Amino acid sequence: MTDPVLEDAPAKVNLHLAILALEPDGYHSLDTIFQSVDFHDTVEAHPAEGDDDSLEVVGSIDTGSPSGNLVLKAAQAYRAAAPETPPVRFVLHKRIPAGAGLGGGSSDAAAALRALDRLARRPLGGRHLARLGAALGADVAFFLCGSPLARAGGRGDRLTPLPPLPAASVLIVDPGFPIATRDAFRWWDERSPRPRSEPAPARPFESFQSIARFARNDFEDVVFDRHPALEQVRGMLLDHGARIALLSGSGSCVFGLWDDGDRIDGAAAAIEAAISGARALPTRTRTSDRADARSN
Ligand code: C5P
Repeated sequence: MTDPVLEDAPAKVNLHLAILALEPDGYHSLDTIFQSVDFHDTVEAHPAEGDDDSLEVVGSIDTGSPSGNLVLKAAQAYRAAAPETPPVRFVLHKRIPAGAGLGGGSSDAAAALRALDRLARRPLGGRHLARLGAALGADVAFFLCGSPLARAGGRGDRLTPLPPLPAASVLIVDPGFPIATRDAFRWWDERSPRPRSEPAPARPFESFQSIARFARNDFEDVVFDRHPALEQVRGMLLDHGARIALLSGSGSCVFGLWDDGDRIDGAAAAIEAAISGARALPTRTRTSDRADARSN
């Protein structure tokens, strides 16, 4: 019996997110910068007997029914491409909240694809995994691109990996409620007139300072209108000296980024005291793709 494999599934934050247009297919073209962080789920893949893949979710995060989980959808997609792959029992150690803008479900799917490729007799390889991932969700491609920092166009799935930046401290604030990505895009569509947005400058992103000069998130307008507490969190992060403070993805989490961690504890305590139900999660930006997690 082959040993199980473990894969980290990191969360991401968007250091910049411009919504450029509603496309005829109903999707939106974006210009965004993804940064992965140390805060992560873990996917265990155990070679199993029987015919079917299975999934056990461990932790206090509500992820709905396992059959709808992207881990099993990823396994289905993998198996369609590589039918001889033996069945797998997945154990997902879930920490990243759902509907949070942190890419947790997408990262779990990417980790499941990587794990299956490590267990497969004839691995599909990175390019093939990227194709399978892109069909599962727009953010999956980032978690397969091999870099902790990347710029993305298209639906958020046309990736340009960027050279990693030195580690920075990040405080993710989970307000304790989810926002569905589809709803946030609809709120943006319903704005009249629709805001015009420009892509980020084309120059290299050599530091968080240079990104901070243009960084913004176009969802903030429509999301902060409906959830003013999130704008309050962003203000508190800036008051505590964050170099960048933004909604992540379509929310609901807001994050702050500092060059060093001196003021993180103070920011976390102040926010948790002021915002009922909020949970502050200190972490760091990743400086390398640590997706090659240990074998058990
Ligand atoms: O790709 P994903 O399944 O994460 O997207 C969830 C929903 O968000 C999509 O069904 C779509 O309504 C919307 N979406 C979009 N434009 C994007 C990405 C997602 O409109 N670039």
